[in-house]
Amino acid sequence: MQKTLQIRKFAIFATLSVLVIAGCGKKPNQSGKADSTKTMAAVDSAATVTKVPFALKEGKRLFLHYCAVCHGETGDGGGQYYGLTPSPANFTDKAFMKSLSNERLFKAIMEGSASVGKSNMCPPWGKSFQPEELEFIVTYIRTLSGK
Ligand code: HEC
Repeated sequence: MQKTLQIRKFAIFATLSVLVIAGCGKKPNQSGKADSTKTMAAVDSAATVTKVPFALKEGKRLFLHYCAVCHGETGDGGGQYYGLTPSPANFTDKAFMKSLSNERLFKAIMEGSASVGKSNMCPPWGKSFQPEELEFIVTYIRTLSGK
C-alpha cells in the first residue's frame, strides 16, 4: 500500500515534469511570432507606409483584394481585367490625383464612377465597406502617387 502511494507520487511528479518541459518547448513558437511581426514591418516599410501602419495596411489589403483586378496592383490602371474602355483610373498619376479632392474620391468609390460624370465602369462600393474601411482605401490610394 505504502509502496503504491509512493509510485503514484512519483508518477504525478514525472507527469508534472513532462508538462513543465513541454511548456518550455513553446519558447521557439513565441519567437516565431516575433518573426512574423518583423516580416509585416518589412512589408510596411517597403511600401513606405510606416506612419499610419494600420490604416495603410488595411487599405492595401482591401485595395489588392477588390480594386487591383482592374486598377492594377500598383494602382497604375493596368489590372488583369484589361481592355476596359475607358481604362481604370491611374492612381500613380500625380497630376490626376492632385485634381481629385478626397470628397470626390469618396463619392466616386461609394457611388461608382458614373456618379462623378464618368463612365459606369467603376461599380459603386458604398455598401461593400464600413466607413472606416473606405477611409483606409482612400488613404492607401493617396500613397500610390508618391505623395
Ligand atoms: C471592374 C473594374 C473595376 C474595379 C473592380 C474597380 N474599378 Fe475603379 N475604375 C474603373 C474604371 C474603368 C474607371 C475609370 C472610369 C472612367 O474614367 O470613366 C475607374 C475609376 C475609379 C476612380 C476615379 C473616379 C474619378 O473621379 O475619376 C476611383 C477613385 C476608383 N475607380 C476607385 C476604385 C476603388 C477604390 C476600387 C476598389 C474598391 C475600384 N475602383 C474597383 C474600374 C474598376
